[in-house]
Amino acid sequence: MVHVAAELGIADRLATGAKTADALAQETDTAPVPLRRLVRALASIGLVEEVEPGRFALTAAGSQLRSNVPGSMRNLALMFGGERAWKSWGELLHSVRTGESGTRRVFGVGSFEYLAANPAQAAIFNAAMAENTGRITELLVSAYDFSRFRNIVDVGGGDGTLMGSILAANAGVRGAVFDLPSGIAQAEQKLADVGVFARCAIIPGNFFYSVPEAADAYLLKMIIHDWDDEQSVAILSNCRKAMHKSSKMLLIERVMPERMEATPIHQQMAMADMNMLAMPGGQERTEQEYRTLLTAAGLSLERTIPLPGTEISVIEVRRNS
Ligand SMILES: C[S@@+](CC[C@H](N)C(=O)[O-])C[C@H]1O[C@@H](n2cnc3c(N)ncnc32)[C@H](O)[C@@H]1O
Repeated sequence: MVHVAAELGIADRLATGAKTADALAQETDTAPVPLRRLVRALASIGLVEEVEPGRFALTAAGSQLRSNVPGSMRNLALMFGGERAWKSWGELLHSVRTGESGTRRVFGVGSFEYLAANPAQAAIFNAAMAENTGRITELLVSAYDFSRFRNIVDVGGGDGTLMGSILAANAGVRGAVFDLPSGIAQAEQKLADVGVFARCAIIPGNFFYSVPEAADAYLLKMIIHDWDDEQSVAILSNCRKAMHKSSKMLLIERVMPERMEATPIHQQMAMADMNMLAMPGGQERTEQEYRTLLTAAGLSLERTIPLPGTEISVIEVRRNS
C-alpha cells in the first residue's frame, strides 16, 4: 500500500491541499473504486485523513512520502515495495534453508550487479540510502570529531550524502567518495548542492580490487553488513593496505545485541538483518563478530560509540602494525 502510494505520487498530489478520491484517480490514471479503497486503507494507517466523506488530506506521517522534502522516505518506499525487494523477500524460506540471498535466487546475480545493470533502480537505491543516511548525519557530525583528519575517504559512499555533511561541518577537511560507477552516479550533483564539491573527489572503483591510498580516515557506512565473512575480510584487508600507520577506519553499522529483546530498536536491527539475508546476502553483526573480522584483516577495534536514540554505532578501528 505504501509502495503503491509512493509510485502514484499520492503525497505529492495532496501537498497543496485535500482532494477527493475521484480527483486522485483521474490524476493518477487509476480505476476510481480501487483507488478510493487504497486511499481509505492509507487513512487507516494514518498517512492520509478523510476530512469529509470521500475527501482526503495528507497527514504529517504521510508527508514523508513526498519527494524532495527533508525527512522524505519516498525512495525507501519505492525500493522496499519494488520488484527486487518484493521478489527477494518472497524467497525467505529458501534463504533460511540454504543461506542463498533471495536476490541471487530470483535474479541470478548479486544486488550490486543487479543495480549496475538497472540504472533507474540504482538511482532509487542510491536515493533510498541517502534518505536513511540523512536521518543520522547531524547526530554523527556532532558525536564524532572529524576535524582532526586532513582527508577522509568514504568507501562505498554512494551519492555523497554523508561526506557532504561532514565536509559542510568541517571546513578544513578534504574528502573523497569512492564507489562503483552505479553508486556514485548522483554524487556530483549532491556535493554541489551542499556546496562542498571543490573539496571532494569522486573516485569510481571496486573495493574488492583496491581503495584510494593514504587518507587519514576511511569511512565504511553500511558496507560490511552487505557481505559474508570472507568478502568482508577482503574489503577490510584492502582498506588496511590503503591506510597509513595512524589512519583510522570508522565502520558505521548496526551493532547487533548479544541477546535479542522485543524492543523497537532491536526490532529494527532484526528487520535489517533479515533484509541483508534476503537482498545482498550479508548480515548484521555483534561487536564480537566485528572484532573477529577485523583481526583477520590485521586491524583492531578501538572503541564503539553508539549514536543515541538510534540502532547505529561508530566502530573506530586502527591498523595492528
Ligand atoms: C548499503 S549501500 C551504503 C551506501 C552509503 N555508504 C550509505 O550508508 O548511505 C552500499 C554501497 O556500497 C557500494 N558498493 C557495492 N559494491 C561495491 C564495490 N565492489 N566497490 C565499491 N563500492 C561498492 C554500493 O554501490 C553502495 O553505494
